[in-house]
Amino acid sequence: MAEWSLALELQAEDEGALTVRIAGALREEILRGRLRAGQRLPGSRTLARQLGVNRNTITAAYDALDAEGWIRTEAARGRWVSAPEEGARPPRRDDGPRAAMPGRLGFGLGDEPITSHPVVPSATFDLSGGLPDVRLVPWTLLARAYRRALERRAARLLDYGPVEGLPELREQLATMLADARGLACSADDVFVTRGSQMALWLVGAAVLRPGDRVAVEAYGYRPAWDALRAHGAELVPVPVDDDGLDVARLAELARRSELRAVYLTPHHQYPTTVTLSGPRRLALLDVARAHRLAIVEDDYDHEFHYEGRPVLPLATLDRGGHVIYVGTLSKVLAPGLRLGYVVAPAPLLRRLAVLRSTLDRQGDLAVEAAVAELMEDGEVQRHAWRARRSYLARRDALVEELGSRLGDRLVLRPPSGGLALWAQALELDVDQWVEQAAALGVRIRPARQFAFDGRRRPFVRMGFARHDEGELRRAARRLATAASRVPSSRGEALSDRASSDR
Ligand SMILES: Cc1ncc(COP(=O)(O)O)c(C=O)c1O
Repeated sequence: MAEWSLALELQAEDEGALTVRIAGALREEILRGRLRAGQRLPGSRTLARQLGVNRNTITAAYDALDAEGWIRTEAARGRWVSAPEEGARPPRRDDGPRAAMPGRLGFGLGDEPITSHPVVPSATFDLSGGLPDVRLVPWTLLARAYRRALERRAARLLDYGPVEGLPELREQLATMLADARGLACSADDVFVTRGSQMALWLVGAAVLRPGDRVAVEAYGYRPAWDALRAHGAELVPVPVDDDGLDVARLAELARRSELRAVYLTPHHQYPTTVTLSGPRRLALLDVARAHRLAIVEDDYDHEFHYEGRPVLPLATLDRGGHVIYVGTLSKVLAPGLRLGYVVAPAPLLRRLAVLRSTLDRQGDLAVEAAVAELMEDGEVQRHAWRARRSYLARRDALVEELGSRLGDRLVLRPPSGGLALWAQALELDVDQWVEQAAALGVRIRPARQFAFDGRRRPFVRMGFARHDEGELRRAARRLATAASRVPSSRGEALSDRASSDR
């Protein structure tokens, strides 16, 4: 197996013969733990070549270390660092190179305005968000497309390239947006990012100045809030109801004090899954026009609508250049690919290009080429179609199973789109329920985690896309068991009674 060459720092020539200095350098590295017990040492020929010395010099240095017990030699096989003997090691010098990463910082950090941390799927049944089922992704086709892309254009795809994304992918995204979402745009209007998270961060950097006020949904997507806060935004929550963001309240806010932008999820409101009503869409654009607001429209799972036609993005109605449309392939394809995009007027895209080049230079062009090919061949479309069918069946399975087991403690409204349910709990302390469920290997999330004020509310969000029907039914059974372990929350008296009944 090819190995990295071993960098050794030899002492100055006047410290002794070369053999002694090489043996000393190796001993030092063993002492400080960089060469670990059991680690194989480079062959004498290799090390001699690396250090530009005679092979006999290396053999002599190794023999000396072997005689001292630092290393072990097996004839014709190689040499290994010996296991340390208790007490055999002299105390470490504290002015030499360190043995491991220091545990603490020697300098101060800036303020951390961040409140959330990336969610990594973990539980046996992870219903914690609107995560897609990556098992359904046609990865063999993706692998083939990746290979083909490199076979045909390795020199271009492995080089520095366009910061705004590969033209082929921008073209395919523009076609998708025009065909499936009614968004009149061309490849030049599409800026490819690593997921919508990067898009939101870049938009924050491009649009905001420290102290700018940005309206957000009072139940919403914390990673987006954090991206905006990272640029000094002061976030102002606006309530959400069955018609989505309360635009009248937003208008009132904008009248009372200056607002710079509003961030929202109008298609499937995150986390409540409701859709922003038609009249509110028009009213929102009016507010933006009147107050020169940027509207950041996060349309993260557009493809997944189960009843009738999808509502077209706000961006389709925008003639004044207010809407910054942010999308992602994380749901329709796979989050690990890290592909998102921004569609917005050219001056903003130019600013994004400058900002992105300071942070990330460009995306992964080979992946962009592979995905562009899958889109061109209709494979992403086919996958979206199949996934939508599966997710609909999964939604119904989860609603049915939960309904039959927990119908008296949950109000379940199957969402018309998206990948998660937003359910109201009746007389059930959702925080305790979530905890009990986690103990049984099922992850769901309480409303508190999405609420701007972090206060408890009797709602939970349960993703249904990640698991198949059988898994969801098993998860629902565990959720029912978990709920049975939570006393009813209908006042102290009742919960006292419930606990003494057991
Ligand atoms: C509201 C919202 N926006 C965007 C995303 C996608 O983020 P990304 O494209 O960075 O994977 C998600 C995924 O969970 C989301 O829920």
